Amino acid sequence: MDALTTLFDELPPAAPVLLPELQALYGGDLAFPDMLPLPAPAEEGVGGERRAFCYANFVATIDGIVSFNVPGSDTGNEISGGSAIDHVVMGILRSLAGAVIWGSRTYMAARRFTPAPGAIWPPGTDLFAAQRAHLGLTPLPLAVIITAGGEIDTSGAIFLRDDQPAIVATTDRGAQRLADLPSRAPATEVWSFGETVTPDALLRRLHAERGVRTALCEGGAMLFGAFLAAGVADELFLTRAPQFAGRAVEAPRPGLVEGVAFSPAAAPWAHLVSLKRSGSYLFERYRIDGMRG
Ligand SMILES: NC(=O)c1ccc[n+]([C@@H]2O[C@H](COP(=O)([O-])OP(=O)(O)OC[C@H]3O[C@@H](n4cnc5c(N)ncnc54)[C@H](OP(=O)(O)O)[C@@H]3O)[C@@H](O)[C@H]2O)c1
Repeated sequence: MDALTTLFDELPPAAPVLLPELQALYGGDLAFPDMLPLPAPAEEGVGGERRAFCYANFVATIDGIVSFNVPGSDTGNEISGGSAIDHVVMGILRSLAGAVIWGSRTYMAARRFTPAPGAIWPPGTDLFAAQRAHLGLTPLPLAVIITAGGEIDTSGAIFLRDDQPAIVATTDRGAQRLADLPSRAPATEVWSFGETVTPDALLRRLHAERGVRTALCEGGAMLFGAFLAAGVADELFLTRAPQFAGRAVEAPRPGLVEGVAFSPAAAPWAHLVSLKRSGSYLFERYRIDGMRG
């Protein structure tokens, strides 16, 4: 496995954040605005005034596809070709997150796993744990699953582990369907947001009630579309895998953003803040600016 080589980076942290071993793999350091300097508890504004900083992470083919959408081959793993260095980056990004957010279809595709950093790259388990301890984060990120309808298979790994705190963010009707879940999964809470789950309300509540400063949105495309449309996707980490997936009317496949079609005037823009490579894989980091003008 080749570590990342940094081609350029406009956002090096002012003080070290990543442990030296992770910096060696990532080809440099990494931080988010809410992590440096760490605000003292009295300054945090807990009470709903602030929301968690939200960064997304995806792997896409050269043609922008994030899932082959074929039963048994419908995760990011087929898109990255099982790239170990992409798994390392996923683990690093998870190790900096207070919460990891999944849409219900992403949860279904990945339900054998939890969003623990070490679940995606087991050799890094101890290192990721040390990184979280170094930042004063809980041992595991809070797992957040978003579902409007609440019709999810609750036998996934997230709900089976006592040490994996989880929140299912849903609507009133979803909460009714999932009313007995906390009695079966004691580390899980069901949060109702009324008729719709608005991303902004979720990020505010995560900050206010769980002290989450950094939230990692791991998709999928529908969820990322909702976060972009709501103007609360602050950054995107995008691994570009050197393959083409294609798509056809009879074989629909999600691109990076689904469920929303921005008008030319209202389309959000982003600027590239860092670019890294490992072999023919590119690792892009964007700060999302919103509409122009
Ligand atoms: N390549 C990658 O990096 C990557 C990353 C993530 C996922 N994926 C793949 O992408 C596919 C899944 O993506 P997807 O776009 O089809 O689905 P998704 O975004 O994972 O999930 C969509 C579902 O999430 C819920 N949801 C989304 N936004 C919501 C909102 N604002 N309020 C309430 N509920 C909301 C709804 O759940 P209900 O229908 O339950 O109401 C919706 O049907 C899978 O194949 C997955 O493996 C790839």
